[in-house]
Amino acid sequence: MTVSPLSGAAGTGISRRARITAVTSGKGGVGKTFVAANLAAALASQGQRVLVLDADLGLANLDVVLNLPPKVTLHDVFTGKHPIDAAIVPAPGGFSVLLAGSGMVEYSRLTPEVREQLQQVIADVAPRYDHVLLDTGAGISDVVLYTVSLADDVMVVVTPEPTSLTDAYATIKVLATLQQRRAVQLVVNQTRRAGEGRAVQHQLQQVIDRYVNPGLDKAVRLELLGELPVDPSVRDAIVKRELLIEWLPGAPASVAMRALAARKIDA
Ligand SMILES: Nc1ncnc2c1ncn2[C@@H]1O[C@H](COP(=O)(O)OP(=O)(O)OP(=O)(O)O)[C@@H](O)[C@H]1O
Ligand SMILES: [Mg+2]
Repeated sequence: MTVSPLSGAAGTGISRRARITAVTSGKGGVGKTFVAANLAAALASQGQRVLVLDADLGLANLDVVLNLPPKVTLHDVFTGKHPIDAAIVPAPGGFSVLLAGSGMVEYSRLTPEVREQLQQVIADVAPRYDHVLLDTGAGISDVVLYTVSLADDVMVVVTPEPTSLTDAYATIKVLATLQQRRAVQLVVNQTRRAGEGRAVQHQLQQVIDRYVNPGLDKAVRLELLGELPVDPSVRDAIVKRELLIEWLPGAPASVAMRALAARKIDA
């Protein structure tokens, strides 16, 4: 297990703090924010206390997906203008959010201040929740990599397209070599047939076994946390600014999201 700098009760069997999960991806636009928001609602409906932090600091849009205009943002917390409690707001799905607000361009670069502040905010909220989801940007910028380094678990969202697979592979390789990550939770989004998620996991694992694992002390393992079908109602929900699992609980992607949440609780 990768021990994050925030690990307190980790490994003791006593759950005194949230499990911190970074939701990330190699390629952009694969569905991280959709997954983070709807997984949070699915976890909440299964009795979990959940907070989603919009860690896509430069290009935040969790507020748009949740239809929550940001009043107090992470920026206000970082600058000391407001206490953290003022920035935590309830979201429609029964979970809490910390919004970044848009145009926080100063956070597109990782400065020592941003490092310290982000770590502090996560440390402050962790004791109050069962799960904290960090909705990151795509790729391997230093801001994304640093955010992922603060998490206990890394969830990589990937679609079956070759470009997404290539970028997911690159991300996983970097996380394995720079952060000694050995377990990756895989979410295959926008699948077109049952079992496609398993096929994607096998394909990625094979490439990792061939090109990454031989140089490592311990092998990187991908765990398929779930697959979510391509579903036109995902886009409809975003346009209506509703959470899919609340608006259309019977939609194929909603059903799959609840199964994903159940596996996340057990993971
Ligand atoms: N399962 C799905 N079925 C159909 N469309 C989907 C699905 N998942 C995501 N989408 C579409 O992909 C779009 C992008 O999703 P989202 O904003 O969650 O991606 P992202 O990875 O967070 O992007 P970014 O890298 O810009 O942060 C959504 O607006 C939606 O239209
Ligand atoms: Mg996003």
